[in-house]
Amino acid sequence: MGIVLVGGRIVTAVDSYQADLRIEGEQIVAIGYDLEHPGDERILVDGCLLFPGGIDPHTHFDLPVGNISTADDFESGTKAAILGGTTTILDYATQFRGETLKAATLNWHRKADGRSYTDYGFHMAVTDWNMQVAQEMSMLVLKEGITSFKFYMAYKHTLQVDDESLLQALGQAKECGALVCVHCENGDVVYELVRQARAKGQTTPAYHPLTRPVTAEKEATSRVIALAQIAQAPVYIVHLTSEDALQVVTAAKLRGTQVYAETCPQYLLLNETCYQAEGFNGAKYVLSPPLRSRQDQESLWSGLRTGLLDTIATDHCAFNFVGHKDLGLTDFSLIPNGAPGVETRMGLMYTYGVVPGKISMNQFVNYTSTQAAKLFGLFPRKGTLAPGSDADITVWDPNGDSVLSVETLHQAVDYTPYEGFQQNGQVKHVFLRGRQVVREGQLHESQPRGVYLSRKSLPQKKG
Ligand code: URP
Ligand code: ZN
Ligand code: ZN
Repeated sequence: MGIVLVGGRIVTAVDSYQADLRIEGEQIVAIGYDLEHPGDERILVDGCLLFPGGIDPHTHFDLPVGNISTADDFESGTKAAILGGTTTILDYATQFRGETLKAATLNWHRKADGRSYTDYGFHMAVTDWNMQVAQEMSMLVLKEGITSFKFYMAYKHTLQVDDESLLQALGQAKECGALVCVHCENGDVVYELVRQARAKGQTTPAYHPLTRPVTAEKEATSRVIALAQIAQAPVYIVHLTSEDALQVVTAAKLRGTQVYAETCPQYLLLNETCYQAEGFNGAKYVLSPPLRSRQDQESLWSGLRTGLLDTIATDHCAFNFVGHKDLGLTDFSLIPNGAPGVETRMGLMYTYGVVPGKISMNQFVNYTSTQAAKLFGLFPRKGTLAPGSDADITVWDPNGDSVLSVETLHQAVDYTPYEGFQQNGQVKHVFLRGRQVVREGQLHESQPRGVYLSRKSLPQKKG
């Protein structure tokens, strides 16, 4: 017995066409016409668009930061994700200093296993690089299917690694077929600018962007690309925010370097004026790198239109305004960095990307699903609609407008940066490996049934 979705429009990164789709077990088995077998369930999806389930390759669920943890754990975060049309997330498991990668992996499995409504995989964020960790990197690739590793060039004294470590890590990654993901901001520069601001009594959230200038992002982006070229290793730039950093990436791509770049809805839809919000409200936008100028926003859209960027992730790292963000009420540098977005990504990118024609529908699918699957070793199991692929399907009804509000979203955090934003269209149904988990926009599954995804390596360019 199967399920047949009848009357929808199939949209992949390369095609868009009217056809029915048949699911059997966990997979798509056929796309075409007259697909029904006796006993099949028939679901009418007339006028709807069928997208491959969204893949968000950058989340932070249940992440401890100082004495607090992110508001969303795997249960609440993935429930919100699936209601927003995302069926796979890749979370940044994090090695804390002094820890082995094995311990960090076990720690993240304890947080996620049996609690995830989406399928999930882990990147490993490495904060304490040494030769033992280098060996463990290969083990994680081979044994755990963790094939991407994040390094921070910012957050001095907590997460930041130096260039020597980064170069060694890139070399090791090349050896073992891993992809290095990098947070690009010059952490020493940020540290000094924050020190100067505090010394002058500049303590409000408005100083957050001023102490993390575009040039610090540009310099770090340029430096890590140089290191990747020396190591002849591929590199993935996470949450790219600015025209300057995009120019650096573009120049490297034109030289043939295997460099990939991700941006996020917050950098496309919000800008530095948010830090002027009344009172302490600017703290809601304290995330790193910070929001940039209107011109940067336009450059990012143009980068998406022309294919210079590779993915749209969220960097979902949710902290409550009350109880978390207010730790920095008298000192912006103590505000925990990050913002929520896992539930709103697909709707926002459809509304503000596809509807006004800033990106095509195929690009929307490419950036929100297909490219992440390809870069992070999940394609063609995930990231497309094709016979043999997992039946992860987001049925999108392009009709029906709504207004985003924390009151109606499911993320376990007390604000959304997109309060009052209009959304065109809505998630109607979501299937995760053939099971209907969202029906008519409501959660239709009482149990978290997401499974851990052991991932393949990214093929590397020869030469
Ligand atoms: O402000 C942010 N982005 N917080 C999450 C951690 C990171 O830098 O990705
Ligand atoms: Zn980061
Ligand atoms: Zn992040």
